[in-house]
Amino acid sequence: MGCKVVLAPMAGITDGDFCKKYRGLFYIYTIGGYNLDKATYLASKRIEGRGRKEFSIPLKDFDSYIVNEINKIDFGLVSVNVRFLNIDEALPRLKIISEHADIIELNCHCRQREITELGIGQELLRNVKLLSSFLEKLYSLDKPLFLKIRLNYIETEELIKNLSLVREYFDGLHVDCFYPGKDYPDIEGLKRIRESFEDKTIIGNNSITSLERAKEMLKYSNLISVARAVLKNKIDWIYKL
Ligand SMILES: Cc1cc2nc3c(=O)[nH]c(=O)nc-3n(C[C@H](O)[C@H](O)[C@H](O)COP(=O)(O)O)c2cc1C
Repeated sequence: MGCKVVLAPMAGITDGDFCKKYRGLFYIYTIGGYNLDKATYLASKRIEGRGRKEFSIPLKDFDSYIVNEINKIDFGLVSVNVRFLNIDEALPRLKIISEHADIIELNCHCRQREITELGIGQELLRNVKLLSSFLEKLYSLDKPLFLKIRLNYIETEELIKNLSLVREYFDGLHVDCFYPGKDYPDIEGLKRIRESFEDKTIIGNNSITSLERAKEMLKYSNLISVARAVLKNKIDWIYKL
């Protein structure tokens, strides 16, 4: 494999046009997060209302919008980061995504109140029953499926236990090595995830802004991803990797 760096999703920012500015730089371009049902669309509008960027795409326009965005990225793999509460309502949109993108990434990471109040986003990390009800149906799409997860929201031991219960349904873990109160990633947590999911593709994420940190994370992951570093243009090191 050539480049081992993935563009991480940033709501309201990472769409097709954004990706086009970084043609050839990334192995996977993650777009979204996108809302696939009424509950998450309304939550997204409320988040926007308090000044945060979001992709609040009207649901009636979503199918043509997403095909257009995916088609803009003809220079790398495309992963689509998604959130929804009602999988049956979201399923036709997931099907469209599965027909055009390379990977579906389920957002089990969002900590915005409007989303966690619905019991989704990072709440999915502890609600295995809801997570598995989503994954059983996503599995039927027969598309590579990644879970975007956040470390240290729940204990790593519990996280591993919960993800092990649904391991048959996903192909990869996109791991934000969030370390509360620290300005560096939780590498030990990533190592434990790597050891517990040897058969899965692991994308290590969080605060990668240098070649040294990239190499450190790649000890325990197949790929690494960046979000804020792209906005700050701290990406020179990628060319040296
Ligand atoms: C403005 C912004 C929006 C984000 N939106 C999403 C999102 O919609 N879905 C998601 O899974 N992660 C989202 N993230 C999290 C990033 O993908 C990434 O996990 C996090 O920023 C840590 O990586 P970094 O240190 O490289 O920025 C967002 C991050 C930022 C800064």
